[in-house]
Amino acid sequence: MSIAFKPLTPNFAAEVSDIDLTRPLTPEQVRAIDDGMDRWGVLVFHDQRFDDTTQLAFSRNFGPLEISSGAELSKPEDNRLQPEMADISNLDVRSNLRAADDKKRLGALGNRLWHSDASFRAIPAKYSMLSARIVPPTGGNTEFADMRTAYDALDEETKAEVEDLITAHSNAYSRETIGFPKADYGAEFQDKLRPVRHRLVRTDARTGRKTLYLSAHIGEIVGWPVPEARAFIRDLTEHATQRQFVYAHSWKMWDLVIWDNRTTMHRARRYNDLNDIRDMRRSTIRGDAPTVQQAA
Ligand code: OGA
Ligand code: MN
Repeated sequence: MSIAFKPLTPNFAAEVSDIDLTRPLTPEQVRAIDDGMDRWGVLVFHDQRFDDTTQLAFSRNFGPLEISSGAELSKPEDNRLQPEMADISNLDVRSNLRAADDKKRLGALGNRLWHSDASFRAIPAKYSMLSARIVPPTGGNTEFADMRTAYDALDEETKAEVEDLITAHSNAYSRETIGFPKADYGAEFQDKLRPVRHRLVRTDARTGRKTLYLSAHIGEIVGWPVPEARAFIRDLTEHATQRQFVYAHSWKMWDLVIWDNRTTMHRARRYNDLNDIRDMRRSTIRGDAPTVQQAA
């Protein structure tokens, strides 16, 4: 039986039913999901009862996995999950709620800024796969923005202006935006925080469509004064995240949402994280190439 996609907005994000992703997939099913990702950018699957083993096995159908930046920027004994699993929860290593002043809690608030996962890597992420294991009673939506349609909607003058721009991305920039002093965030992991360069306009090899490659991790445009670069990136982000380009996902337990980081941005929304558990686990598929040549 072929997979059916039910659009969640006219152009962007679709829901898929009648498939159990916890079981081994056929090559045809994998191809249908890839094709759906190319068309819709975000796919929503309900009632996928993953544990970490089945989620990672499912994920590997789509390419090699990333080690999460959370694991890279902390000691192994401080991690609740294995390194291929990004811990998008408000729980500490003993599964207790994190306190208000907990450093990891505060760092994770960077997810509330519009971003593309792992844009701070020279080879940035392809798909992210987020599994909802425990959801809070209210709040905690995730919003997704369609960066292909946002690119198409730019006026011709702006398209010409952005065409060849190169940006610099680092996790330290997004943390600076939420108030971590620059030298303070991950001081002991400086090699992981060195800025990497990306094209601001990417062309998707599979569909031929152009996309605005924006992310909260951008701190500079190469050759531009920093304040001017940040003001322009802010304007572009405001353009690209207008309501008509956004799908807001309200989570149910056992949802799996897959998004393509090359063609979308996303952000977390607020919830009562000091009282309610939200346990989300993300596996991330590596991209296949840098967007621009640069020193390793
Ligand atoms: C992520 C992320 C948003 C959320 O998993 O990469 O940004 O709503 N999550 O938790
Ligand atoms: Mn993210």
